Amino acid sequence: MITPKTLLLSAVALTSTTTAQVYQTPGRSKDAYSYTQPEDTVILGQYGHSEPVYPSPPARDGGAWEQAVKKAKAFVSELTLEEKALMVTGQAGPCVGNIYPIERLNFTGLCFQDGPASLRTADFVSVFEAGVTIASSWDKTMMYNRALAMGREFRAKGAHIALAPAVGPMGRSAYSGRNWEGFSPDPYLSGVAMEESVLGFQDAGVQATAKHYIFNEQEILRNPVRYENGTVQYEAISSNVDDRTAHELYLWPFANAARAHVAAFMCSYQRINGSYGCQNSKTLNGYLKTELGFQGYVMSDWYGTHSGVASIEAGLDLDMPGHIIGRALIDDGQAYSSYFGGNITVGVNNGTIDTDRLDDMITRVLTPYYALHQDEGYPSVDPSIVPLNTFSLPNTWLREWNLTGPSRRDVRDNHGDLIRKHAAASTILLKNKDKALPLKAPKSIAVFGNDAGEVTEGPLNQAQFEFGTQAIGGGSGAGLFTYLVSPLEAIKARGRQDGALVEFWLNNTLVLNRDASAWAQTPLPNKPDVCLVFLKGWAAEAADRESLHLDWSGDELVESVASTCNNTVVVTHSSGINVLPWAEHPNVTAILLAHYPGQESGNSLVDVLYGDVNPSGHLPYTIAYNATDYNAPLVTAINTTGKDDWQSYFNEKLETDYRYFDAHDIDVRYEFGFGLSYTTFALSDLSVAKLDEKADINSQPEERSVEPGGNPALWEVLYTAKVAVHNSGDVRGSAVPQLYVSFPASTPSGTPPRQLRGFDKKELGPGERGTVTFNLMRRDLSYWDVNTQKWLIPTGEFTIHVGFSSRDLPEQKTFTVVKE
Ligand code: NOJ
Repeated sequence: MITPKTLLLSAVALTSTTTAQVYQTPGRSKDAYSYTQPEDTVILGQYGHSEPVYPSPPARDGGAWEQAVKKAKAFVSELTLEEKALMVTGQAGPCVGNIYPIERLNFTGLCFQDGPASLRTADFVSVFEAGVTIASSWDKTMMYNRALAMGREFRAKGAHIALAPAVGPMGRSAYSGRNWEGFSPDPYLSGVAMEESVLGFQDAGVQATAKHYIFNEQEILRNPVRYENGTVQYEAISSNVDDRTAHELYLWPFANAARAHVAAFMCSYQRINGSYGCQNSKTLNGYLKTELGFQGYVMSDWYGTHSGVASIEAGLDLDMPGHIIGRALIDDGQAYSSYFGGNITVGVNNGTIDTDRLDDMITRVLTPYYALHQDEGYPSVDPSIVPLNTFSLPNTWLREWNLTGPSRRDVRDNHGDLIRKHAAASTILLKNKDKALPLKAPKSIAVFGNDAGEVTEGPLNQAQFEFGTQAIGGGSGAGLFTYLVSPLEAIKARGRQDGALVEFWLNNTLVLNRDASAWAQTPLPNKPDVCLVFLKGWAAEAADRESLHLDWSGDELVESVASTCNNTVVVTHSSGINVLPWAEHPNVTAILLAHYPGQESGNSLVDVLYGDVNPSGHLPYTIAYNATDYNAPLVTAINTTGKDDWQSYFNEKLETDYRYFDAHDIDVRYEFGFGLSYTTFALSDLSVAKLDEKADINSQPEERSVEPGGNPALWEVLYTAKVAVHNSGDVRGSAVPQLYVSFPASTPSGTPPRQLRGFDKKELGPGERGTVTFNLMRRDLSYWDVNTQKWLIPTGEFTIHVGFSSRDLPEQKTFTVVKE
């Protein structure tokens, strides 16, 4: 059995201290899977047979970016061949990715910076709530405002391109180490979040990057593994996915990004049906540049380029980071020189690289730059980022970078208020027995858990340390906190207003080492009115999670506290799915999931605990009873030694998360979409209407010329559904009505029983009534037909279900779209 245990991690990890890493053994996990492909499995994507799609479609003239394309082409016509090579190859410099300036043409270069929750390599920036956190808000306006605020910070620090938002991994497996950077395993929710995020970043004038494209669903073996002499021992894992699954799950949110005119796509590390993500012509030339009409550029993930001409022809436009430094520092020490760079010059001169294609690559790189007016005076790169970018410190630069403008720019504005508000609105209340919450000015509060207190190890950047609250995950999605409000700090401040006694027990081991009976017999110094237990779960890039349980004996800590405290409120700060085995414990009166809330962690939580904010978060995934209830396991080991043998077959097809549990009638602890409030809501009067009463709707969309996002006909609203919402309780709150579609029986088998196709968030005062409208677009009512290669609306009866979670759907209506 080969496991990654002894293999060097051929991956780009991101902290300053990182050297070559060794995988931990998965065997240590309580519930990690070891998965090998069953012999009788049908190979869906045909390993080694990713369909060839050539040539690479050029950016077209016309459309929303028409003027920008013209400017880009005019610029390209001025370039020498050497300059052209530099325009498509990153260089060592101040930013995580850099394109050299070309002074003679007044081009000041491009600065690419991580990541999805903060400008990672910078000081005096905000650390926002993670992707999974904002997805839990189910609030489109907040998704947009978060990205807009982040975009303003990137811009003010001189970053032209944000390496965000992420939707790969999407969350096929609960174990993937990077799920928290993205949004949800549900494509519709993720699609909305992608679109709002792209619009937010780009309205701030910053280019957004949709990453990691595509099927990047596990970290283990995301990159090839090499022997010491540099030859490849194992090629990276191959995600083997069929065409229908691709369209209806993984490509779906990327289509939203394209539709929002995202500037860039970052192709992913792993292989796709046998060929590397950055040289896969089917996904780059085919899905992205042809079907989705994407007009921007594809950049490689860092060191994710594995060929020159082949990648260029398959649709890769820009090689990142293009220099050897970071690779030598953090990988397996193997020398690396770009397949682009000087090789571009050679390739053009010897005729293996087509000049038109090279020109198109640069046109694509520059079009968003002009479209977002980045040529019209852009803030300079803040010099203080330089020492924070360990990828390429100044002693590695091949050229001087002229860094001007003030250093240590504080770009945070009032974003702390926004983050506090967003994180509070994203906090999910799963249980609230006898209205334990909101707290009613308790006089005595006991706080437990190593997640409650101050960060204890060094700068407020996060790591998998034992003591200190967890407010963001690790790797390129992390952030450098200027401050971080811990839960304990905020609870003490709030408790002081009521003259409360606040005691705290922050060492899980010490709490657990006490003899349970002694613990029970020894009354706490001042019998607490409430026991708040804080648990954390770490996740980071370049490693997958080994367990779905909370870290640091979190489950045991809850049991221990709840054994003596009959008002135990549990709060989790984690990357996503945790099984919560203590959820039904009678003394666990309330459960709050706060995910990674960013810098205002404690404040946003106290707002919810004390009822200043009524919780309105809903689960963006399913919480099952057992870790083993989840399907779609990661590949953590293989039984053979072949170089190409790391294969991941997405055989579950469309059945991930709730789609799987619903298709197989599996009971779950808390279903997708679930979340409580301090008030109650009721729904009534669901109605559905065709937008154009008289129009006959065809199964096939009208063939219209492709715009970014694909055939515009797919985005046309065909039906609207309306439902009345009533706040039937006695406090103000926000409801999240959700619409799920059941497709007709004529739809090909494998269609999930119900799929999310609409949601909204509605704030209502006590007793107030309102209406929520859902727009159903053609894509929402179609399946991907692999034979015709089209989205088709099936004949027969659709059912729409509206409710407050995927399993609480009191309102239903049926309708037929296409006549038999
Ligand atoms: C690798 C990560 O996968 C990607 O998300 C990140 O943007 C780059 N490194 C640059 O740090």
